[in-house]
Amino acid sequence: MEATATEPECRVKVELGPRSYEIVVTRARSELFGAFARAALARTWSGSACTQALLVTDQHLAKLSLPEPFERSLRSVGIDPALVVVAPGEAAKSLLQASRLFDELVARNADRHTLVVALGGGVIGDLAGFAAATFARGLPLIMVPTTLLAQVDSSVGGKVGVNHPRVKNLIGAFHQPAGVWIDLGTLDSLPDRELRCGLAEVVKYGVILDSTFFATLERSSGDLLARDKAALERAVLRSVELKAQVVGQDEREETGRRAILNFGHTIGHAIEAVAGYGGAFEHGEAVAVGMVAESHLAQRLGWIETEVVDRLVRLLERLGLPSNAPGLDHGELLAAIHRDKKNQRGRVRFVLPHSLGSVELTDLPQEQDIRAVLSIVTTTSASRS
Ligand code: GLY
Repeated sequence: MEATATEPECRVKVELGPRSYEIVVTRARSELFGAFARAALARTWSGSACTQALLVTDQHLAKLSLPEPFERSLRSVGIDPALVVVAPGEAAKSLLQASRLFDELVARNADRHTLVVALGGGVIGDLAGFAAATFARGLPLIMVPTTLLAQVDSSVGGKVGVNHPRVKNLIGAFHQPAGVWIDLGTLDSLPDRELRCGLAEVVKYGVILDSTFFATLERSSGDLLARDKAALERAVLRSVELKAQVVGQDEREETGRRAILNFGHTIGHAIEAVAGYGGAFEHGEAVAVGMVAESHLAQRLGWIETEVVDRLVRLLERLGLPSNAPGLDHGELLAAIHRDKKNQRGRVRFVLPHSLGSVELTDLPQEQDIRAVLSIVTTTSASRS
């Protein structure tokens, strides 16, 4: 799980026995992608028999000609790629679009040697990954995440799926990729708001697992926002190392270990749901407010001092992320929290910090604690309680 610094790329291993794989963090070297895909395939049952691939991307990335070097590189290693372009946005994460991918695979006589490459953000990774998990009971999958959020979170760990019209991510599977190819060059065209949303998940890793990393982020917030390549590389690399460790310890979120990745998400999901998906709060922004709210909960339990909450709020604000959600209705937020699928036997579970770098999954917060922190973050001065 340690990164090996073999410039110009770094590699992180996700240790999962027979399902182990490598994450490469590189800078604009897509001509090497084919060789990476071949080596990744060689470690799977598909092996050298792979001669074709379905390369799934979205219209924005296709317009930027992003798939072309990946197509060329796959051809250079004897893999014939068929490009499938889906509409951008969360609506593509549907059974209808998955069915379209199945049609494309059938049309190409795909079999269990056919590679699926997911080139895009979280939606593409989840959708293409779901098709790979289910078609012919499982095709090899390589993730090429192009947003910071997908690079540091959804591309690693094997969670794939589509949305039910009423519940996000309800229909899915665990299907580990054969490899993850992170090209920091793809971040150049990422809108600022999406970059900031990815940074919210980066901050999360500091809070849950690594106080030194948190302090590094405090020092480098300006560089990160300015898209300094070295700062982004350090942030992505450390985030995926930490995610790889957690996934290696609890692949299917069964022991509570992987659940720590949900810090900020119990309240964050509620904020997204109440504000309306695609509305005032993007996922990363809702998670930022969720992390602040959940830190206030930890403070109410006496687990952390105000100073920790203040440092988190200051860092998020420096990264251009919100620390509160003024005007959202408490009752609706509370109802949404109770609907969250991670609740067990009526108790709401939260991942809360004991200190920076150390968290615990707990159902200790009482209804009045939850109400109190919702009240804090729905007013404008969230840094004080
Ligand atoms: N996004 C949380 C996880 O992968 O478990």
